Amino acid sequence: MRSSSLLLLSFFIGVCDVRGTSDFRICAFNLHNFGESKTKKSNVMHTLTRIITRSDVCLLQEVRDSKEKALPHLLDHINRYDTEHVYKAVASERLGRSDSYQEQYVFVYRTDMVTVTDQHQYPDNRPGDIDAFSREPFVVRFKAPKTAINEFVLIPQHTTPANTTKELDALYDVLQYVRRMWKTEDVMLLGDFNADCAYLAKKNRKNVRLITEKSLSWLIGDKTDTTVRSSTSCAYDRIVVHGEKFTRAIVPFSAKPFNFQTEYRLTEEQALEVSDHYPVEVVLKNATYNVSFSGGISLALTGTEQTAVQKSFQSMFFSLFLLSHLVFQLLTQ
Ligand SMILES: *[C@@H]1O[C@H](CO)[C@@H](O)[C@H](O)[C@H]1NC(C)=O
Ligand SMILES: *[C@@H]1O[C@H](CO)[C@@H](O)[C@H](O)[C@H]1NC(C)=O
Ligand SMILES: *[C@@H]1O[C@H](CO)[C@@H](O)[C@H](O)[C@H]1NC(C)=O
Repeated sequence: MRSSSLLLLSFFIGVCDVRGTSDFRICAFNLHNFGESKTKKSNVMHTLTRIITRSDVCLLQEVRDSKEKALPHLLDHINRYDTEHVYKAVASERLGRSDSYQEQYVFVYRTDMVTVTDQHQYPDNRPGDIDAFSREPFVVRFKAPKTAINEFVLIPQHTTPANTTKELDALYDVLQYVRRMWKTEDVMLLGDFNADCAYLAKKNRKNVRLITEKSLSWLIGDKTDTTVRSSTSCAYDRIVVHGEKFTRAIVPFSAKPFNFQTEYRLTEEQALEVSDHYPVEVVLKNATYNVSFSGGISLALTGTEQTAVQKSFQSMFFSLFLLSHLVFQLLTQ
């Protein structure tokens, strides 16, 4: 009986600890053909806004905004919806091999949480492998003083389904290029990699250095479903982290798709109007996380943090209360 109450105790504390924290979240979201026609659907814009404002930095893909009106419109929506932050965006050029089909990479970010310290369009002119990508990564460096990592680089990629294996392997070269260029190890690669189902055959995975190299952690597992359609289950959208330091700065098991269909109680049809992909998200540890585990909590705490800590104490006492209640019931059976 004693071991079962211990189990219950850890269960309740585990459950309660999840609440009341202010997380630093990064997301990658394929908006499926985002352009003027989507901005005219207010329900779609509302859902997009709710999804994007969950994160401190959100990579948007499949932005096909030839008149350059849809993105400002979305940003306007976002800033009117979440007035606690000011959001800005940094966007690549329109990228693509044909003039008729182009996409932009866009990072929407909270200006009070991060600053963009550098940006670079990968030239894709590696000798022997010129024009490896149809949408060359637009690499952005962020400073985020409130996170445990402080500064990091994001490499976005939306692969071409027909060339997924090749492009994923070439991303490893982009990683080496960025490490040299900015002398940093703290790099995350993210986006709609099409890294599953028919586009990435199992037998080809051994040819992809982004998968085989040990310095990288794939945070979204192969069994994950990042697609909205109930008829498909594919882990297309991924988050990959390079380096031990960055990996340690990630909240364990926090990387997952955000199922906005169930979360916002939409029908499949309504969800598909928004996108055919779920966003994938990951949470970074905050800068005070370390402090709280090495003692001396109170010195580092500001007002809001104190409330969060108080809340977690409250929930702990509440769970202890529940637990003793349960144990009492067990003993008096
Ligand atoms: C930092 O993370 C810890 C652990 O999750 C949490 O308790 C605390 O509230 C967070 N602080 C802020 C400012 O978000
Ligand atoms: C696939 O890659 C090859 C070589 O890089 C390129 O010529 C071809 O156009 C690509 N296919 C698509 C659909 O982009
Ligand atoms: C928190 O820990 C990470 C990894 O252990 C370290 O890189 C970072 O500098 C630490 N942050 C602070 C504010 O001590």
